[in-house]
Amino acid sequence: MINPVFKVLESEGCRSYLVGCPTTRRALLIDPKVGMQQSYAWFLDAYGLELGAVLDTHTHADHLSASSVFADAGIDLYMSHRTPVRRAKRALEAGAQLAVGELSFEVREVPGHTVDSIALVGHGMVFCGDSLFVGGLARADFRGSDPAELFESVQRELLSLPGDTLVFPGHEYGSVLFSTIDTERRTNPALAHADAAAFAASLGTVVEGTGNSAAVDQNLELNLAAHPDLPDSPPVATTCCGSPAASDDEDEVPELPPGGHAEAHGSLASPGEWVDVRDPVEWKNGRIPGTVSIPLSELGFHLERLRSEPPRYLSCRSGVRSMTAAKTLRHVGVTKDAINVGGGILAWQNQGLPIEGSPAT
Ligand SMILES: [Fe+2]
Repeated sequence: MINPVFKVLESEGCRSYLVGCPTTRRALLIDPKVGMQQSYAWFLDAYGLELGAVLDTHTHADHLSASSVFADAGIDLYMSHRTPVRRAKRALEAGAQLAVGELSFEVREVPGHTVDSIALVGHGMVFCGDSLFVGGLARADFRGSDPAELFESVQRELLSLPGDTLVFPGHEYGSVLFSTIDTERRTNPALAHADAAAFAASLGTVVEGTGNSAAVDQNLELNLAAHPDLPDSPPVATTCCGSPAASDDEDEVPELPPGGHAEAHGSLASPGEWVDVRDPVEWKNGRIPGTVSIPLSELGFHLERLRSEPPRYLSCRSGVRSMTAAKTLRHVGVTKDAINVGGGILAWQNQGLPIEGSPAT
């Protein structure tokens, strides 16, 4: 199986995914968000990728899609054939294959949150937009939403995937990077209901359209338009598309204070015991000697190896991304013992400890 060149981009709980072909360097950007364009351009350049297409998994209600910016620049926009969005696009039906260079993803329809919700399946991953979330399901109280349809489409189209499929949702309000189908089957309380009717009943009386606040309708108006007049700086997201922080792990991840860095490093028996999760470009620039690189976005591609050789320490630049890595490895059942290196490589070098290459900035 080919692993894509892959970068997860996060902004206010909204996820965009940059998926690139390692041989042709063509890339697909999933769910681009207004305000993130500079970031997308930076990472395309850093990863040596050329943007070939963008895809919106559905008509977004909680934030402004940047898909019109790309469509107006001549980049192909893909959406469901059911979408009411009026901008120039290529329509995808269930079962269609979407090629990204030599990579190929199958389109699945997962309606319920919206009528035009689709997921992309391939290369051991599923990009499920707003349908299945980590520890929950998407909200289903917008105009056109249907809670029972959401439950059924997730069961039919997503939970039927192999258990080790990596789940990348359209939002993550907690602190894990991804889940797996097997983890969600076992732990997602929304999926524990006997059937769609029981799930819908668990939500109480959901009146279709109650989620359409004035802010939501404003977003929809712009996201449906062919050539929207987008604001220079987007409004702060005022609504969620799922349960906030459904995935937050109650357990505390153990943390190594900066005072313990040198001793912990000295106790390593092999480089695999200390994993640096920063981006490849940061690793190339400079690193703590004797550590190995697994970029956070690519963590899911290495679960088998990490299960057989669990890391003792996880580090990044300042300790935030390595905390996400630790929480993700706990969530998907790989290891609960990995220790987050507090302060990351910045704290390491501030103590005058050695760096291979250039110091991090
Ligand atoms: Fe949504």
